[in-house]
Amino acid sequence: MDGNGRWARRRFMPRFFGHKQGVDALVRAVDAFADRGVQYLTVFAFSSENWKRPSEEVTGLMSLVLVAVSKYLTKMASDGVRIRIIGDRTAVSDKLRKAWEQAETMTQHNTRITLAVAFNYGGRWDVVQACRQALALGLDPQQLDENWLAQHMALSFAPDPDLFIRTGGEMRISNFLLWQTAYSELFFSDCLWPDFGEADIEAALSAYARRDRRFGGLNADAAKPEGH
Ligand code: IPE
Ligand code: MG
Repeated sequence: MDGNGRWARRRFMPRFFGHKQGVDALVRAVDAFADRGVQYLTVFAFSSENWKRPSEEVTGLMSLVLVAVSKYLTKMASDGVRIRIIGDRTAVSDKLRKAWEQAETMTQHNTRITLAVAFNYGGRWDVVQACRQALALGLDPQQLDENWLAQHMALSFAPDPDLFIRTGGEMRISNFLLWQTAYSELFFSDCLWPDFGEADIEAALSAYARRDRRFGGLNADAAKPEGH
């Protein structure tokens, strides 16, 4: 969800205003994706590297999450959204940890869409924390395979993403779901996140529908013998 700061700057407003609008854009997007049959939506809200931002911005983002939970949790819960948080929770405040737990508990039986919020998350952190679990369990090296790791990574409750969308014009993964996006289709949009709406969602999903996914194999045409 990139582009909040630029969105605000264009309006001569502080960056925080852009983040605030970004939360509203997320709430709308969850609904719009769910209406189109998307069952899992994972959003990158705060990366392991975002601590490098000025402390006012970091503090602002933390308090914004608390505000967002108190403002939207009831609505999301009654709209059928199951909320899961992925990331390193040890570094966030007790207050925030409690808010996450409340959001997860309150929505655990919902089935319309699963919203996974990546917070203090990094793709490299995720691989390392899964490996640490293996070591802590004293796993035999032969037992450690792709399947085992996938089952111990933060997004183990969801299938690998079909589509990866980045807004804000940059064409980078920036340490998001590195392991899980091995075969995801990538879609980059110049739209700044607070502006990301129904038309952008349609554009992303229709681009996805035109992709030919082969997962390293051949497509149906190429697989046919010569002359058929
Ligand atoms: C993304 O918007 C939101 C977070 C990382 C929380 P940015 O803050 O990166 O916005 P730009 O890239 O400066 O416009
Ligand atoms: Mg950015």
